[in-house]
Amino acid sequence: MSPILSERVAALVKAASAVVGRLDLRAVLEHTVLLARDLTGAHYAALGVIGEHGSLVDFVYVGVDDDRARAIGTPPTGKGVLGLLMNRGETVRVDDIHTHPEFAGYPRHHPEMSSFLGVPVRAGDHIFGNLYLADKPGGFTDEDQILVEALAAIAGGAVSTARLHRQLTRLALVEDRERIARDLHDAVIQDLFAVGLELQGLSLTVEDPNVAAKLADAVERLDEAIGSLRSFIFDLRTLANALLDPARTIKDLVDRLVQPAGMTAEVAVADLGEVSPSRFDDLVQMIREAVSNAVRHADTDRIEVGVRRVDDHIVAEVVDQGRGFDPATVERGMGLDNLWARASEIGGEVRIDSSPGEGTRVTIRVPG
Ligand SMILES: Nc1ncnc2c1ncn2[C@@H]1O[C@H](COP(=O)(O)OP(=O)(O)OP(=O)(O)O)[C@@H](O)[C@H]1O
Ligand SMILES: [Mg+2]
Repeated sequence: MSPILSERVAALVKAASAVVGRLDLRAVLEHTVLLARDLTGAHYAALGVIGEHGSLVDFVYVGVDDDRARAIGTPPTGKGVLGLLMNRGETVRVDDIHTHPEFAGYPRHHPEMSSFLGVPVRAGDHIFGNLYLADKPGGFTDEDQILVEALAAIAGGAVSTARLHRQLTRLALVEDRERIARDLHDAVIQDLFAVGLELQGLSLTVEDPNVAAKLADAVERLDEAIGSLRSFIFDLRTLANALLDPARTIKDLVDRLVQPAGMTAEVAVADLGEVSPSRFDDLVQMIREAVSNAVRHADTDRIEVGVRRVDDHIVAEVVDQGRGFDPATVERGMGLDNLWARASEIGGEVRIDSSPGEGTRVTIRVPG
């Protein structure tokens, strides 16, 4: 190993330990990109991460200023040379990107680049994204390639650790709920039940009709309390399952609402990332109202539901091409009022775009 390389490796190892110690994925990615640039002396560096459904979920870069990034618009979609990194998992190193057979041109406003070094970011066989650099004076060397491949391996480890951590957090939540549900069921309900029986026995023996009536009333109230506890337990369990697979939960909910009406629904749920259980519950209730309104009032046979994350919000849209209505003058039931109330309680918003004959679009935004 040349002395210069060993120095650079030492810097890499030091930096890597800083990266691996962090659980904040975004910070890790930013750190990795800066490191890649500094270790190689390239002008541009970027790292893209693809989500579980194949679309880009994170993109960090250095070398392109904010104005220009805004002008370019959407981050790279993974065509051309970048696609090669992701799809085939191969490193690409060229002195002039234009000469690469897969080069597919730049989007508008994208800076011209010449030398290019790109490596897939992966953990095991799983490719999470790509790390790429451009414009190093004199072109990229073998050493650069080794360093950047090492850095990409570290970033891959960090992405998979962060995802695992997220899954574990979710599981912990689910287990908590399961435990609470079980405790409620095994301890609290049985106790209430026993007290109820005792009161009932007592009410048969007392002579004062006033006391007997009070006891009977108490028994009835206990029965009600047990009933609502049972349904609370049921909700806890359902929510626990729901958190494990939010997309499935939303699809099932919509299907259950539209099928009895003989309607069809197209439901698209993107990767929602981390959503708190109570927030997810709010979201589900709000989607339920919007969908059931479309089923009951729109007079159509098809609806569309889309749910996705937009920055720090979850956005759900429920769209029908049915009869539409005028939100300003319609006779309101409880549903729409509840929707608005719930949204404002949690700092979200609901927008209704509808007019007679034009169909209805309900857009729900909740902080997530
Ligand atoms: N997708 C839709 N298409 C056509 N009309 C709608 C749609 N959504 C709501 N409306 C109209 O808006 C009215 C108010 O809706 P809202 O949800 O507040 O009450 P509701 O559905 O009638 O009753 P509730 O929700 O209390 O059971 C509905 O009665 C209906 O006339
Ligand atoms: Mg309603």
